[in-house]
Amino acid sequence: MFDTMKTQLLEKLAPFRQEHLLTFWDSLTAAEQQHLAAQIEQIDFAQLAQLYADRDKPAESLTLADRAAEPPFEQFSTVRRSTSGAGNAYAAGEELLRQGKAAAVLVAGGQGTRLGFDHPKGMYPIGPVSGKTLFQIHFEKVLAAVRRYGHRIPYCVMTSPATHAETVEFLTGNKFFGLKEDDVLILCQGTMPAVSMDSGKVLLADKGGLALSPDGHGGMLKALSFSRTACGRQTALETLKSRGIEYLFYNQVDNPLVRILSPEMLGYHVLSGSELTSQVIRKTNPLDKVGNVVKVGDKLYVIEYSDLPNDVAERRKSDGSLQIWAGSIAVHIFNVELLERCSKIASSLPFHTARKKVSYTDLQTGETVKPSEPNAVKFERFIFDLLPSAKNAIVVEVDPPNHYAPLKNAPGSPEFSPETVSADISAMHTSWLEQSGVKAADGVNVEISPLFADSPEALAGKIAAGAAVEKDTYFE
Ligand code: UTP
Repeated sequence: MFDTMKTQLLEKLAPFRQEHLLTFWDSLTAAEQQHLAAQIEQIDFAQLAQLYADRDKPAESLTLADRAAEPPFEQFSTVRRSTSGAGNAYAAGEELLRQGKAAAVLVAGGQGTRLGFDHPKGMYPIGPVSGKTLFQIHFEKVLAAVRRYGHRIPYCVMTSPATHAETVEFLTGNKFFGLKEDDVLILCQGTMPAVSMDSGKVLLADKGGLALSPDGHGGMLKALSFSRTACGRQTALETLKSRGIEYLFYNQVDNPLVRILSPEMLGYHVLSGSELTSQVIRKTNPLDKVGNVVKVGDKLYVIEYSDLPNDVAERRKSDGSLQIWAGSIAVHIFNVELLERCSKIASSLPFHTARKKVSYTDLQTGETVKPSEPNAVKFERFIFDLLPSAKNAIVVEVDPPNHYAPLKNAPGSPEFSPETVSADISAMHTSWLEQSGVKAADGVNVEISPLFADSPEALAGKIAAGAAVEKDTYFE
């Protein structure tokens, strides 16, 4: 029988020499054909061809490195707020929260390849005493802010096709950990196909499906501005605006130390008139593998470590400290207006390329091939590329023990593994107790529920100074 669908697909694919995607078409069931056709329909093959052609073009940031200077910055208080500057910022941030002008977004669409966990990373049990999951810890921080400031707070959660169904089931099954269902906006980000490094041809993951992966955390911009939310026909950005939200606090699912909706950071953001504020840590080594936030002209940029020439990374100021010192830790505050403006400009977020090992189906044999060397080019967008579009952007320096311990690597790895991250949570909470005059014995695990206290400030007055913690303890 004449196959109209196949003919139409071939017409779409032929100009880009991607007809191989239909190699196994005739052996697929009708449902499988529909699935494959839907995947192909979503791809902008002209854009893909251009991205592949440009794959070796130097990143724009490379040309900026030579002119890079340090960004304007504020320092987050290392202990309970002490300086008056931090106090003013804290008060300004609290005022925004009381007025209900801030919301939060959690990006949780990554595939978590390095961790090697069989579920979305947010479901990983990480609490050192409670065994709470990353999702629960994040949700309870938002709930703590709702309770403290007496205002409902919209909470956006970005998933991807790889994590969506299981995340929705998990969050629904746990009743959104106390948040109101109407306040949780789950958005599924888009995907990009992986192409063969040698030919630019899209890889087949199996006979009836393309090798697709999430389009990077920068996919958030599109997800916020295109996804319809469960609560209605609005996009998430429209929902946020209609609820009077002006500021969106952003963090990634893997870092349980982050102070979600930190009043101090919100305060620095609003007092400096910034449209995008990013948290950074001070690099200890010029070649640390972090994105470098720099100022060029009147704009901020992130230069990836791989794009920063060593001689530029090594440059020092007259006091001996590094000139390029601000390492991004992927915690940001965006003005909703900035997101809205950038969502209308297709070039706001460029694609970055990465060479990766991607399993694929051999077109001759139909067998799956697992390459031992990178064989594919993947394309991703990064949300920090909005920095140069933002007016008055600043960074806020934080200290890693109190803000940054991302879960990246498999158990047993020397850093950013379940064991080290769990220990980092316990160490941070032990230091909060110490600030309240409570001493934990050596080797004891301590964990404080965000609903008990989500900062050293919130802990003040909740436990008696002079108390001692002798065994593993969960404060809830
Ligand atoms: P990473 O780049 O560390 O990726 O994402 P990952 O998925 O956690 O782990 P690997 O690299 O596969 O081992 C940093 C954060 O950005 C989110 C992730 O969920 C994580 O919170 N992310 C990443 C997305 O939401 N979407 C993406 O497309 C990529």
